Amino acid sequence: MPTYNPDLNDLHAWDKDFVWHAFTQMAEYEPLLIERGEGVYLFDTDGNRYIDGSASMWCNVHGHRHPRLDGAITNQLAKVAHTTNLGLSNPTTVHLAQRLADITPRGLEKVFFSSDGSSATEAALKIAFQYWHQSETEGETHPPQSTSHRTKFVSLGEAYHGDTLGAIGVGGVDRFTSIFSPLTFESIRVPGPGMTASMSSTGDGGPRTDDSSRRTTAAATLHELENLFKNQGNEIAALIMEPLVQAAGGILVHPPGFLRAVRELTQRFNILLILDEIAVGFGRTGTMFACEQENVSPDILCLGKGLTAGYLPMAATITTAAIWKQFLGSHKDGRAFYHGHTFGGNPLAAAVALESLALFEEEHILEQLPERIQQLQGHVARIAKLPHVGDTRQCGLVAGIDLVADKDSRRPYPWEDKMGTVACMAARQHGALLRQLGDTVVIMPPLSISSSELADLLHAAESAIRETTQAPAGLPSGSVLS
Ligand SMILES: Cc1ncc(COP(=O)(O)O)c(C=O)c1O
Repeated sequence: MPTYNPDLNDLHAWDKDFVWHAFTQMAEYEPLLIERGEGVYLFDTDGNRYIDGSASMWCNVHGHRHPRLDGAITNQLAKVAHTTNLGLSNPTTVHLAQRLADITPRGLEKVFFSSDGSSATEAALKIAFQYWHQSETEGETHPPQSTSHRTKFVSLGEAYHGDTLGAIGVGGVDRFTSIFSPLTFESIRVPGPGMTASMSSTGDGGPRTDDSSRRTTAAATLHELENLFKNQGNEIAALIMEPLVQAAGGILVHPPGFLRAVRELTQRFNILLILDEIAVGFGRTGTMFACEQENVSPDILCLGKGLTAGYLPMAATITTAAIWKQFLGSHKDGRAFYHGHTFGGNPLAAAVALESLALFEEEHILEQLPERIQQLQGHVARIAKLPHVGDTRQCGLVAGIDLVADKDSRRPYPWEDKMGTVACMAARQHGALLRQLGDTVVIMPPLSISSSELADLLHAAESAIRETTQAPAGLPSGSVLS
């Protein structure tokens, strides 16, 4: 075959012709090719520079091309790029598992590696199911005659746990998933406490009609959970939730104490708690893990995205020793966890994950976050005053800004207008890459962002929102901490 160096026009055309982009209407897609990165900046093939305002889909932690992270990968590459973890192991992966057991909340010890967040939650659901099955049939000869009654999962409205069939079974963002409902198992969905009125219609896929979209309070959710556990507790394998903030549902922030109260209920009724920290783990909410803020340790913890500082695909499902023990026995008992992925525990990913954890310690990343979080708070408060901004929500270094047709009533824009998408496209002209969730503009930069870079990002977001909603020129009153 002749060698051929494609020019930019070819690449733009091929991007439309050959690449099927995730969550994208390809008939309307306009290519933007990112060629390289440096710190919080990304550069396109024309040399334009953008601040990575979505941390490359919520996963970049220390910026792009960090010399220590790049070096960790090349060092590992000099040893081996990949070996399987089916029945054998690798020193780097073993080391990472030990470190994760060390830094995650007490009791979490056994690390099951996979390649992405959806696989981590999928594994968590299967582990919970198999755990109960094996607990309840203990002592029976193999294969057991009976099965567990614990076949149901509880999740919160607007939950997002990934896109594989099991994960969407416990998901609550119906516009993404309702079409697949004949293929999935049904979870018991309890309305979450973070819903806002302006979320009732969305940009990309039409209005939400499900019950989970209704506004509720933490007390109502807890009451509903308690009744559910009382009446059906012995049929429930686990409750799965995103702690503190439901990200893909629209940056829906839970009130303080909610997670703790859910944990107490699951303990009281002997129901496993799966916490999905794929979006919020590794410093996003201001602590290494979100659940630390309410002194909660789940039975199963799911990690992904920031685990490798956003460099390589890797995820982890971490359980207690009590769960793990139910999988032990002779091979003749058939109790092993028959589940796995080719690249689970990949040594390159493990190497960069280990180096990222070292950076957290040595560069005091968590200690520097409060200042940045406060700066974000100050500027979001100012954006909140714009005439077409409804609710704004923040948890740590993530914020959601709702665009609404009417500020007082929080009436949404018609979803066909895609105002969130339009605003994020406008932000590109101001040097920022942002990603919307319906009509919610999301600010989620790498944790390493400096004060002046964050100020630039927020100015870009504000300018884009002003232009899109045709807000009058001039600054809304209020202070900006930058
Ligand atoms: C909370 C949560 N869980 C699971 C996932 C799925 O992760 P992945 O896209 O790596 O499969 C995501 C992705 O955004 C997420 O935010």
